[in-house]
Amino acid sequence: MEQKSFAMIPLLDIHTDEMVEIAAGTGFFKEHEVQALREVLDDFHKENHEYEHKGYLLQDDRQKLGFVYYAPAPMTEGTWQLWWIVVQKELQGKGLGGHMLKEVENDVLKLGGRVLFIETSSQEKYESTRKFYLKYGYNLEARLRGFYAAGDDMMVYRKSLKPE
Ligand SMILES: CC(C)(COP(=O)(O)OP(=O)(O)OC[C@H]1O[C@@H](n2cnc3c(N)ncnc32)[C@H](O)[C@@H]1OP(=O)(O)O)[C@@H](O)C(=O)NCCC(=O)NCCS
Repeated sequence: MEQKSFAMIPLLDIHTDEMVEIAAGTGFFKEHEVQALREVLDDFHKENHEYEHKGYLLQDDRQKLGFVYYAPAPMTEGTWQLWWIVVQKELQGKGLGGHMLKEVENDVLKLGGRVLFIETSSQEKYESTRKFYLKYGYNLEARLRGFYAAGDDMMVYRKSLKPE
């Protein structure tokens, strides 16, 4: 990868439109999922930032490259979930997603987390996404058949951040 001249910056509400555009531009998400992202970001700025929800944009000196959003799972001890990880379509496959994931893991550890769960779809389209999680040390922990839609299963990935 090229020299690292990018930074993770905390989310502001002025970033929302651009983040929604980045997500929509990947071609991965259905319209209602893109709408859900906007709602997640609105709720984050309204109140969820007070409940340990975290969001960061990855940017270099020219543009926004991608973003992550993660949160502790309610009613658990040290369990966190990655809600969103997205890299601009034309910048994928250059290590940016891996860089953001590592930053998330370090932050979760710092905040007392011990395990990170990630959910994604079983659709063909998400093959590369599933490979990405496996590549970065996540294991497929569960498969919830028909969760998202008939024939579209929820794939649950897990990584221990501390020795168990
Ligand atoms: C999944 C995603 C965040 C990964 O980020 P990335 O910067 O592309 O991934 P990295 O460069 O760090 O890692 C590359 C590895 O991820 C996988 N991968 C996933 N998407 C890829 C893509 N579009 N191009 C190349 N590799 C991709 C490959 O296994 C690759 O490893 P390999 O080259 O050894 O096969 C990004 O591709 C993306 O935004 N995808 C669309 C949205 C999405 O699925 N988000 C997750 C659900 S919320």
